[in-house]
Amino acid sequence: MYRTHTCGELSLKNIGETVTMCGWIQTIRKFGAIVFIDLRDRYGITQLLIQEEKLPDLPLSNLGREFVIQISGQVAERSNKNLKIPTGEIEVIISELKIMSPSAIPPFTIQDDTDGGEDIRMKFRYLDLRRATMQKNVLLRYKINKAVRAYLDQHHFLDIETPFLIKSTPEGARDFVVPSRLNQHQFYALPQSPQTFKQLLMVSGFDRYFQIVKCFRDEDLRADRQPEFTQIDCEMSFVKQEDILNMFENLIKAVIKSVKNIEILDPLPRLSWEEAMWFYGNDKPDLRFDLKIINFKKPNHIFLNYSAASSIVKKIGFKVFEDAETIVAIAIPGAGDYSRKQMDELTEWVKRPQIGMQGMAYIKLQTDGQIKSSFEKFCTPDTLKDMIDRCKATPGSLILILAGKEEKTRKAMSELRLEMASKLGLRNPNTFKLAWILDFPLFEYDAEENRWVARHHPFTSPKPEDISTMLHNEPQIANPDAYLEHPYYNIKANAYDMVLNGNEIGGGSIRIFQKELQEKMFAALGMQPEEYQHKFGFLLNAFEYGVPPHGGIAFGLDRICSILGGSDTIRDFIAFPKNNSGRDMMLDSPSTIDSKQLTELFIQLKS
Ligand code: AMO
Repeated sequence: MYRTHTCGELSLKNIGETVTMCGWIQTIRKFGAIVFIDLRDRYGITQLLIQEEKLPDLPLSNLGREFVIQISGQVAERSNKNLKIPTGEIEVIISELKIMSPSAIPPFTIQDDTDGGEDIRMKFRYLDLRRATMQKNVLLRYKINKAVRAYLDQHHFLDIETPFLIKSTPEGARDFVVPSRLNQHQFYALPQSPQTFKQLLMVSGFDRYFQIVKCFRDEDLRADRQPEFTQIDCEMSFVKQEDILNMFENLIKAVIKSVKNIEILDPLPRLSWEEAMWFYGNDKPDLRFDLKIINFKKPNHIFLNYSAASSIVKKIGFKVFEDAETIVAIAIPGAGDYSRKQMDELTEWVKRPQIGMQGMAYIKLQTDGQIKSSFEKFCTPDTLKDMIDRCKATPGSLILILAGKEEKTRKAMSELRLEMASKLGLRNPNTFKLAWILDFPLFEYDAEENRWVARHHPFTSPKPEDISTMLHNEPQIANPDAYLEHPYYNIKANAYDMVLNGNEIGGGSIRIFQKELQEKMFAALGMQPEEYQHKFGFLLNAFEYGVPPHGGIAFGLDRICSILGGSDTIRDFIAFPKNNSGRDMMLDSPSTIDSKQLTELFIQLKS
């Protein structure tokens, strides 16, 4: 037997027992004739004690960090207890020690507060994964997986695999392609998601499908994006939006209960896309804190539901504001006494290229009762008062105001809102605020190509009340300057996203299941019949043979793991991730392939 116990399980209960253990040497400390070793495995760390004089034959001088050893010895109570770790009250007094595998000196220390930078840790990922934090992350991912499977199994979902070598139909992100040796000059693509397959499974009658599945997207990478990532992909037949929302908010609640032991009893808040944009400036609002945006002015063509909003300021009288398309504000309690320096720093922050504003206006309601504003000389006291009233700002508050082009200004305010919340410590990683975002626009206008693009994907159904608008109007945009007046602009999608702490963790929709409407959708996206037949003929054919109404959703497993694990980056929750340039640092991939392989694939590289 290699071991009787792991390194995480011995306690005072085991005093006097003779044990055999295996693991990695984390540290060796020598005090005269006594040597302490911290022995580590997946389960924890156990202190070993060696009395050198009693065991002169032990190969102690050969030992080093990260050696794999096997020891036997007796469990004893420690005189110097460490109550921070579960095994901290005992130690094992060694009688035998065997080196099972020596180790070179590791390139970084394998401890939580490691001295290794991310590149080196990615290169030696197998060593990085030995660190307790990383082991905890891998375990969390496994537990989430298990909770997802348990819930879906309980609700009669079937796990069905779908192929990885499929057809290239880029829409949204770019495809990764794979050349075919048996079919000269032809390529497979790796799936961006199993979308069409899961719909075909509905046509086949598997009315509840799921898969925890790798997806591949050749897009620019960020902390929350990897070129290959994992979706919890689900689809259901004979359902309306309401059924899906209920089924899957309960899935996420079950996951949070299972891994964090936090029970979320209330139904998830639901915000329309317009509401999210209006009050938070983006479609994945962080609802851990309030700080809603107050809209002083908006362009006429958007936010039709908010055209008569009470916060709109009628008379402004300040040229910069008069000329702006949009004026938005946030009122921050407790920041009314910000110093000149702090205000300058904030102004510089909004001027950074990533935010891109020209400047920022403010009104300070100091705690001493004075009101200071960056634009008081340009406007009447009435306007200032009006703005303060509309913000419902109380003494001690700071009102920050941005003005400019709609899209840019709203986005900047959304970022500023998050920045202020971070400064004020309002983004607690141990608080979990979920919400549904509903009623997205079906289309976005692509000015470069003068056509509509699908906001979610081309299989998303319009809201039932908008179907006839779609069927009975032609998609062509005769006058690009007037695309806002096109009837398609206001069509809403039967689509939903789930957001958690300001991150989109899942998205889905009720699907089109009528051939005629699906063809109209392809045409709306600028495809000619030959093109959509070539790309999606299989789906249109299937739609001739009895299709159940269906819909589904996919969650980003990596994102759920990182948020529940309290980290900003999904890389920490993927055993072997790519870096921000899409490289696997450990394999040094992508890499060249030899000329024989290229010839077999009929590929000639230009030098
Ligand atoms: P969507 O494209 O919204 O929907 O993807 C679903 C979820 O997957 C996660 N995600 C990613 N995670 C890490 N890295 C990436 N590059 C990445 N891209 C997306 C997000 C996102 O919410 N077929 C549809 C789903 C459906 O309609 O049922 C789809 O793929 O958390």
